Amino acid sequence: MCYNLNKGDGSVAQLERALASGARSRGFKSPQTRFTLKREGKTVKVYIEGCEIELIQGDITEQETEAIVNAANEELIPGGGVDGAIHRKGGPVILEELRAKYKRCPTGEAVITKGGNLKAKHVIHTVGPIYKDGKSEEPELLKKAYQNSLKLALDYDLNSVAFPALSTGAYGYPMKEAAEIALKTVYDFLKKHKAPKKVVFVLWKEEHYQVFAETLKSLITSLEV
Ligand code: APR
Repeated sequence: MCYNLNKGDGSVAQLERALASGARSRGFKSPQTRFTLKREGKTVKVYIEGCEIELIQGDITEQETEAIVNAANEELIPGGGVDGAIHRKGGPVILEELRAKYKRCPTGEAVITKGGNLKAKHVIHTVGPIYKDGKSEEPELLKKAYQNSLKLALDYDLNSVAFPALSTGAYGYPMKEAAEIALKTVYDFLKKHKAPKKVVFVLWKEEHYQVFAETLKSLITSLEV
């Protein structure tokens, strides 16, 4: 069954009302792909080529995916936000491994360590761009940060990865623009590589989750025939 999400007021609330009523999942067909969009509780899921993109509101350090992604800095020195939370919960072994293996991590690149006391076995540390004006290669660098994190996940045979909204805190990237890049980059990667099997976006605040849900809806709608 194919439902046209262009109908109605186009809001996330409308999307969620539509998904909550009647069928629990809806299929869409496009020339490039076939996917379903499903809502379970406070989670939105999209299935692409046998892989899943999931949006949740929560704390990335609580995720049980095989890897979680850290929003790090080039010096790999523990900071605040996601970085601080990961180092606090994961314990000192993460920093010890970073110090032993890597000097620094240029913006857009990614490195990997064990997860220490975290539920996730691995932490992928990537560095998103500091937002200036949107014309200083920030979109390309943000895209690279997601791509290189996903490539590391493939290199290490990791089936599930959780991302925060990279660069949208201390680094000041506007949430809507960051969400568009994040979702499109992950979507394109999954379509091409058919792995990792599950990518979760963990959004810290309700309004961040809403922006991601709305952006995901627009992405799906734009791909719908
Ligand atoms: N789980 C999920 N998301 C979180 C969490 C958490 N525990 N804590 C914060 N966030 C959200 C923020 O609200 C923001 O939307 O993660 C997003 C990224 O914010 P930051 O962690 O500040 O990351 P970033 O903007 O990429 O800045 C990186 O901050 O902590 C320093 O060392 C880090 O210098 C680097 C810079």
